Amino acid sequence: MRSNKPTPGEILIIGGGVFGISTAVALLERPRFSNTRITIVDASSELPNQSAASWDTSRMLRADYAEKAYTKLVSEARQQWTILDSNAWGGESRYCEAPLLLTAQPGVLGHVDGYLEESLTNLKKLAETREFAFTPEDIEELGDKDALKRASGPIPGASGNSGYINRNCGWVDARKCLHFLYQKLKQAAKGRCEIHRSTTVRKLLYDGLAGFTINQARCIGAELMNGSHIQADLTILAAGAWSPSLVDMGPRAVATGQTLGYLALTEEEQSSVNNMPIYFNMSTGMFMFPAHTRELKLGRHGFGYQNPTPVILEGKRKLVSTPISHLPVPTEAEDALKEFLVELFPHWRHKEFSKTKLCWYCDTPSGDFLIDYHPEYEGLFLATGDSGHGVKVLPVIGQKIADSIEGKLDHTLQELWRWKEDIPSVFQGTSDGTRGGRRGMVFQEEWQRVRDPTGVARERL
Ligand SMILES: *[C@@H]1O[C@H](CO)[C@@H](O)[C@H](O)[C@H]1NC(C)=O
Ligand SMILES: *[C@@H]1O[C@H](CO)[C@@H](O)[C@H](O)[C@H]1NC(C)=O
Ligand SMILES: *[C@@H]1O[C@H](CO)[C@@H](O)[C@H](O)[C@H]1NC(C)=O
Repeated sequence: MRSNKPTPGEILIIGGGVFGISTAVALLERPRFSNTRITIVDASSELPNQSAASWDTSRMLRADYAEKAYTKLVSEARQQWTILDSNAWGGESRYCEAPLLLTAQPGVLGHVDGYLEESLTNLKKLAETREFAFTPEDIEELGDKDALKRASGPIPGASGNSGYINRNCGWVDARKCLHFLYQKLKQAAKGRCEIHRSTTVRKLLYDGLAGFTINQARCIGAELMNGSHIQADLTILAAGAWSPSLVDMGPRAVATGQTLGYLALTEEEQSSVNNMPIYFNMSTGMFMFPAHTRELKLGRHGFGYQNPTPVILEGKRKLVSTPISHLPVPTEAEDALKEFLVELFPHWRHKEFSKTKLCWYCDTPSGDFLIDYHPEYEGLFLATGDSGHGVKVLPVIGQKIADSIEGKLDHTLQELWRWKEDIPSVFQGTSDGTRGGRRGMVFQEEWQRVRDPTGVARERL
């Protein structure tokens, strides 16, 4: 529906996460959609889905991107996050201040030369405009090992030789934010919106018959696993990592499983690391959040695992990466978490992770969101491709998606988020400059490799 098209009476949103719900809220608040009914479906019994990128406790609020449009977008979001009233985005501990320490180490596998320098330059320029929440004084370049050590506070093992710290930064509690978003949805709905939980979409429905040119079918809704159909004038696919199993996106958007680990701390251990910064080793993609409520969370913002699975898409058999829930991470990932932990906190080398898991991103080759009408199917809009950056822009993303639906998104973002024809033919991972680890790992292969203390090779069943 570009601005010259009629406003849809019925909208179906597939996916009750950050993109789906925030879009629903934005549309429901716009006078143009005052007679529109919205149906949201999500496979989870409880929203958000625990395997999705919308779930979990902490998300880094990083404004430091090499792409200026993102720095600006995150800064806009940050202006909302930093309002701490209980009825504002930052309230009730949804947002917590913490300095962000970014480091890089040329020569390490995964390192991208120049990315850190470029984001620093952007950040400084932005700070100078004083339009945003941070100023040049908040940003300190860390030129050598000593400066880095000083900035890392209570992290004893911080090493490396270049980096910077942004002292005006923070993280958000994704789960709390989603609950806040559901409250907003309730307020905006006024009887015009329904959510169906535990409702899985089997496939999208198309009408290729009357009134359309060749190669142009119309998406008319979705068929659910229980056989029911939901008809809609506009279908918005916002299923995150599950999106590529419903529409053939080729290598444009691919589900990748990203590694997370959690460490339980004693009261004493917790107080020994109070005021630690958010730590991000850009060369390896390994990050760690400030410990809170006696839990330390670390992870890898990497190329992730793919889980190729046969699916039928638009009548054709395809191999598509789909999320796997409820499993701990493969040995390779646990080792990487452990190595990172020991590097930063050598004295915790004997501690065991209380939990590890995969968080599923919908990754695009460039790390840009995919927010656009499908080029071939009328009535189908894609709001996906979070690439692990969705939650931090939560306060503003719904409005941007709604703008794009109405055909009035600003040009730069529209260009970045459009359905691109000119993409590589095979997805080789997201090269947004911040990812670490190996490329092209297949979950099943890594899952079968088990470390065996007796040295006997063994496969997991
Ligand atoms: C998350 O979604 C997947 C895929 O639809 C589903 O299999 C899984 O049960 C959901 N998780 C929860 C906790 O509901
Ligand atoms: C980043 O990780 C690499 C590989 O583990 C390590 O050599 C380097 O010291 C780390 N940098 C920092 C600053 O922690
Ligand atoms: C299928 O599921 C939907 C949504 O959960 C529900 O509204 C509908 O009644 C179900 N249909 C059948 C035939 O059970």
